[in-house]
Amino acid sequence: MQKYRVAILGCRGRGTAAGRAYHQHPRTEVVALCDLVPELLATLGDELGVTARYDDLDRMIEAEAPDIVAIPTGTEFHYPLAMRVLEHGVHIDIEKPICTTLAEADAVLAKAAEKGVRVAVHHQGRTGGALQAVKAAIAEGRIGDLRYLQGSGKGYYGGYGLMNIATHSLNAMLGVAGPVGSVQAVALTDGRQITPEDVVPSPSGMGYIAGEHVTAALAFECGISGVLLQHRFPKMDSTAYMIEIYGTEGRLYWKSGAPWILSTPHFAPGQDEWQPLAPIVPEHYDPAGPASLEDYQFADEYVQALDEGRAHECSGDAGRHVLEILMGIFESGARGRRVDLPQADRDHPLLRWRGEHGLGLPGPMPRPYGEWLAAEDGRLGRSAS
Ligand SMILES: NC(=O)c1ccc[n+]([C@@H]2O[C@H](COP(=O)([O-])OP(=O)(O)OC[C@H]3O[C@@H](n4cnc5c(N)ncnc54)[C@H](O)[C@@H]3O)[C@@H](O)[C@H]2O)c1
Repeated sequence: MQKYRVAILGCRGRGTAAGRAYHQHPRTEVVALCDLVPELLATLGDELGVTARYDDLDRMIEAEAPDIVAIPTGTEFHYPLAMRVLEHGVHIDIEKPICTTLAEADAVLAKAAEKGVRVAVHHQGRTGGALQAVKAAIAEGRIGDLRYLQGSGKGYYGGYGLMNIATHSLNAMLGVAGPVGSVQAVALTDGRQITPEDVVPSPSGMGYIAGEHVTAALAFECGISGVLLQHRFPKMDSTAYMIEIYGTEGRLYWKSGAPWILSTPHFAPGQDEWQPLAPIVPEHYDPAGPASLEDYQFADEYVQALDEGRAHECSGDAGRHVLEILMGIFESGARGRRVDLPQADRDHPLLRWRGEHGLGLPGPMPRPYGEWLAAEDGRLGRSAS
């Protein structure tokens, strides 16, 4: 059986996770690493036993001829790096969110199509064992017909939570209910509707955002609705990051690694209990190995997709549709009306909105989230939180 050759471009946290998954999977081999920081190359290279180490991605790809290049770098670098990598005609595994604007995502997918290669966007929850168990329960009819989905974030500033965490929630929701046809959102900053002055650069280089507290209604093309919550909490709380799936006869609860089922659609305390479901795990996954189950399953899905000549379940198209929904939420929150997808305008809707009000690009903000929050609280006239 062919072993796919994988190169990792960016060897910090997410590159380490990707490297471990492709190293552990029996059908993939990490053949080369690239980073601008020599210590990171040394640490990951020593751990995985990879001696081909580069600081120039073009030289790496020319010398090592990988089948797949993983691009786990800061989000603002996804677009330029993906375009450079795709020029070599190799498949990519790009971290989430795919890009910071729809125009960039369109260009990446067009370049991949021109070169005849695949794009996978690293929303590992969608291919993970917990969501597979949830989908199996739905397919077995255990909650009746799908009726409604609800997802919540971890308490990040809402607009940042959309780009950072809701990108995962949305792709998981797409895996359950299919594409979204339209969105309608309420976006509040400081307890009032957002204004063009509330558009700010995102923390962590995720483009432009607005809204401290965002609630969005989603109309799925299959004829059901959903709600996505991204609300800033006083303190982050990752237990809030989950999706609930309501059926006519029961409910399912998904969070990374932890699927649950309730045998009634209408939960009342003291009546029925939530029961755990077993995540679906490939038999060749060794939990004692360094790879996380979800990253391993993401790599496993890439192997199967390439073997079968089809798209990864977390394809470039799915990743762009997620961004389409996120940009639709920003546009809807700004204008207070429903936004139908896909959008005709591919530039950033919040920058377009500012432009219509005679405003150019917003001023710079710190990149680290804690400093960013302090600056935003200062902009809003609050003492730093
Ligand atoms: N899927 C997930 O669960 C998950 C979790 C956290 C973050 N993320 C995503 O991962 C990305 C960030 O990953 P990270 O936190 O590991 O990134 P990071 O910014 O900490 O590290 C990126 C690495 O890439 C290297 N790099 C950047 N440009 C390069 C170039 N031109 N050539 C060679 N090396 C280069 C940098 O030196 C750095 O070491 C973001 O897009 C974020 O949204 C995903």
